[in-house]
Amino acid sequence: NEPNNSYTIGFSQCTGADEWRKAMIKGMQRELAFHPNVTLLYRDAQYNNQKQIEQIRELANSDIDLLIVSPNEDQPITPIVEEVFQKGIPVVVVDRRITSPFYTAYVGGNNYEVGKIAGEYINTLLKGKGKIIEITGSPKSTPAIDRHKAFMEVMAISPDIEVISINGEWEKQFAKPAFLKIIDQHPDADLIFGHNDRMTVGAYEVMKEKNLLGKVKFVGIDGLAGPDGGIDMVNKGVFEASVIYSPGGEEAIQKAIEILQTGKTNKETILHTAVIDSSNVRMMKMQTDKILSQQDDIEKQQKRIDDQIKIYNNQQVFLYVMSGM
Ligand code: FRU
Repeated sequence: NEPNNSYTIGFSQCTGADEWRKAMIKGMQRELAFHPNVTLLYRDAQYNNQKQIEQIRELANSDIDLLIVSPNEDQPITPIVEEVFQKGIPVVVVDRRITSPFYTAYVGGNNYEVGKIAGEYINTLLKGKGKIIEITGSPKSTPAIDRHKAFMEVMAISPDIEVISINGEWEKQFAKPAFLKIIDQHPDADLIFGHNDRMTVGAYEVMKEKNLLGKVKFVGIDGLAGPDGGIDMVNKGVFEASVIYSPGGEEAIQKAIEILQTGKTNKETILHTAVIDSSNVRMMKMQTDKILSQQDDIEKQQKRIDDQIKIYNNQQVFLYVMSGM
């Protein structure tokens, strides 16, 4: 049911090493398995704006039919994305946004909504009173900007809540030292809210090392399935809650293919969010464990099919060589 056209999609990822980004790529690969006529060129900018600009330029010059991009920071990456779009290459922005409307479609969560839901949950949990340490993602990336803004708007309703915000740059390795620097002034913190689960785990480890666990609660974002993901952390009772922020790899590829095949699409595809806490974590864990094992089966089958194709192709070459003897 698919036109025989072959397509090349370029994907410029701001960073690629963490589990959330790996889940995104895996989702893309699973979706691409249905479209053998589509090739994905993948570039990881490792949180470096300059590198991402160069990689986008290189992709745009290598005859791609569409660009998928998750911009590291919005300001520096916007001009090059606009340039690609104005060259006539459709652009699907995923997860993080740019500052201009010059893109074809956005696929990702609503980060304002994610911050608001986290804020409302935390406000109820603390009954409108207490000291919170917020660990933000990089303040130049749009998810951190939107999550922080919405969170602070909710907190402003409760005069008895105090928020101390620090920058954890999205990664545990940066969040831990930033947290260590301030925790001695705030050993009485009631709750740690991290803009992702990895940084929240970092704060938990610091509190544990300092023997400060007890009343303090932890809330993160992402809610990934699998060992040590947000769902697991809530299930183990380490976190009070995690807000789901879906990586959306499948949806990004679906959107790209829709654009390539039909030339049109709706501009905004917002992925759903929800709070995972003790009230629903067992159900979530059961369901996501099942999905993970099914996905694993699909990947194994896909590999088996690829291997069979390779064997078949080798046999064809062998028969061809034999026939020439
Ligand atoms: C993964 C990540 C997620 C976060 C998202 C925001 O690289 O840090 O943990 O939700 O990026 O862009």
